[in-house]
Amino acid sequence: MTQGVVVEKSAAPVGVEIKGVDLSQDISPKTFCDIESAFNEHSVIVFRDQTITPEQQLAFSDRFGALEINAFSKYALPNHPGILKVSNIKENGVDIGFSDAGSHWHSDMSYTAHPPRCTILHAIEVPSSNGVILGDTLFASTGAAYDSLSDSLKSRIEGRVAVHQFSAKERGVKAPLKLSQAQIDKHPDVRHPVARTHPYTGRKCLYVRQGECVAIDGMADEEAIALIKYLSDLCVEERFIYRHKWRVGDVLMWDNCALQHIALRDYEWPQRRMMHRTTVGGDVPV
Ligand code: SIN
Repeated sequence: MTQGVVVEKSAAPVGVEIKGVDLSQDISPKTFCDIESAFNEHSVIVFRDQTITPEQQLAFSDRFGALEINAFSKYALPNHPGILKVSNIKENGVDIGFSDAGSHWHSDMSYTAHPPRCTILHAIEVPSSNGVILGDTLFASTGAAYDSLSDSLKSRIEGRVAVHQFSAKERGVKAPLKLSQAQIDKHPDVRHPVARTHPYTGRKCLYVRQGECVAIDGMADEEAIALIKYLSDLCVEERFIYRHKWRVGDVLMWDNCALQHIALRDYEWPQRRMMHRTTVGGDVPV
């Protein structure tokens, strides 16, 4: 079925709402093409008021590329290994989902050789207090941040490669991640360009993050850490940010090359937040 895609821009440099699409229905090649173009151009797209099953989320995600299984697979939705429960909900005192997912600025799984092209969240439960929605997610445009660099800084990072480390000490999460040795062994350090080229638009995007990147090849540690910090702080300046206020039924997807993101932890159990997350594989960053 062809559905009329209407794209409504946010005031930020990234982020649009797509109207006129029901993700529980078949999506024609033409409609999908419009959605994908909007996604590549605007980096964050949101569809409001969606009622979809896990199978429909998986099928929609799969149209963007091969689905990935997250390293924290013990939080997968039962019978759906491709869907990770991102949630603070506890049953009998035990987390039923990955509760610390995204509570620091990052780009998903940059510690892998093929970081994901995009991530899709379906909002199942959204916390609030006295009518105020909590648990917003912020998205920062790494393309706009790159564009803002001086020519001399662009030259300084040209061709530079940063080391991304799965178990980096300063991951910035509230509670230390309890990584098993097996998880750490599965994720050796990887190297990616400090400024990578977007695989669909050709735009240059900063691809470093303090706490995930521990070095820059061929640069003294002190200089590298200072540069990583400078670029990380720049990326998340207010002027580059789209802030998403969740509603139950939102399906939101983001581009892991063109953005860094953070999920705000301004709510506490027994306030409940539950997102179903799918992740689509990506290319080796160049
Ligand atoms: C994530 O980084 O996957 C989580 C984002 C969110 O929960 O809003």
